[in-house]
Amino acid sequence: MSKIHAAITAVNGYVPEYVLTNHELETMVDTNDEWITTRTGIKERRILKGEGLGTSDMAVPAVEGLLKKRGIGADELDLIIFCTTTPDRVFPATANILADKIGAKNAWGWDLQAACSGFLFGLATGSQFIESGKHKKVLVVGGDKMSSITNYKDRATCIIFGDGCGAVLLEPNDEGNGIIDTITRSDGSGVAYLHQKAGGSVRPATHETVDALEHFAYQEGQAVFKFAVTKMADVAAEVMERNNLSSDDIAWLVPHQANKRIIDATANRTGVTADKVIVNIEKYGNTTNGTIPLCLWEWENKFKKGDNLILAAFGGGFTWGSIYLKWAY
Ligand code: UT7
Repeated sequence: MSKIHAAITAVNGYVPEYVLTNHELETMVDTNDEWITTRTGIKERRILKGEGLGTSDMAVPAVEGLLKKRGIGADELDLIIFCTTTPDRVFPATANILADKIGAKNAWGWDLQAACSGFLFGLATGSQFIESGKHKKVLVVGGDKMSSITNYKDRATCIIFGDGCGAVLLEPNDEGNGIIDTITRSDGSGVAYLHQKAGGSVRPATHETVDALEHFAYQEGQAVFKFAVTKMADVAAEVMERNNLSSDDIAWLVPHQANKRIIDATANRTGVTADKVIVNIEKYGNTTNGTIPLCLWEWENKFKKGDNLILAAFGGGFTWGSIYLKWAY
């Protein structure tokens, strides 16, 4: 019997309507379109506006569209892994909130926190339940309302982040397609360079923490950049090497969208030419857990069955990893 792989059988995405352009940011902080474009590749990002709306409110349309595409009901889902750094609430899990909103009555689930590598870690985790035979339909959602933890007075971080959400369905595949190999890594010493200072158990919310703007993402951009640019490129090259893949074998490189310069470095290291590198950072910025599923969603029509895809991510923690998968439809 051939090995069962976990294959992506449907993908969908959702981005909010509001477009925050570089020009609008120029009116908010001391920055300019030229600096943002050359240093990051970002032109605009989407922002979820509206009182009381959270990350799950972007997941609902993404997942409902996905179920429709696949022609299945929410009650057929076995498991929901919601990869997010901006859950609706500290608890309970946004996966549960989403399950209730879409009517996934037979699914269990949890939230997965691995910052920008979250969706990749979610695929690596979800695939285990398919490969083991435990589940037949695993939903992996990656989404963030980064605007809820972005300090729009800090020009070095507010220009990067945006809101968005994507989702994929994992199902068993016995044709040799699906997730073939995963490399997942983390290094907790990276906490110093990218974190949210308050709101957790170490420093619960007080008037003081709010006044000190400690409930926003804090990033030492240059330090993070140095790690990201080498780790993401190295791990993508590593997964290719150990599967005997040359750049010619790769149909698509799907990098986390944090900075165009980091994407370019990953492409150079792997030898994958620009026409095969998926980039939409100019439109959405860094949506954290949303970047990779939004790329898959936008490029879905270009993928062919059997295409070799390399996914790569780097994020706070630090966390990083790469996945080699064969597209299944
Ligand atoms: O998602 C996964 C984790 N995150 C990442 O991978 C992000 C990694 N880091 C980065 O992408 C980049 O470090 C940033 C885009 C965040 C910043 O770019 P940078 O080239 O590293 O800039 P920098 O922080 O070294 O700042 C260079 C200069 C500074 O001015 P001085 O000190 O040279 O006079 C900054 O004050 O650019 C200035 N600067 C800006 N100028 C105009 C910083 N932000 C801005 C801005 N507009 N928005």
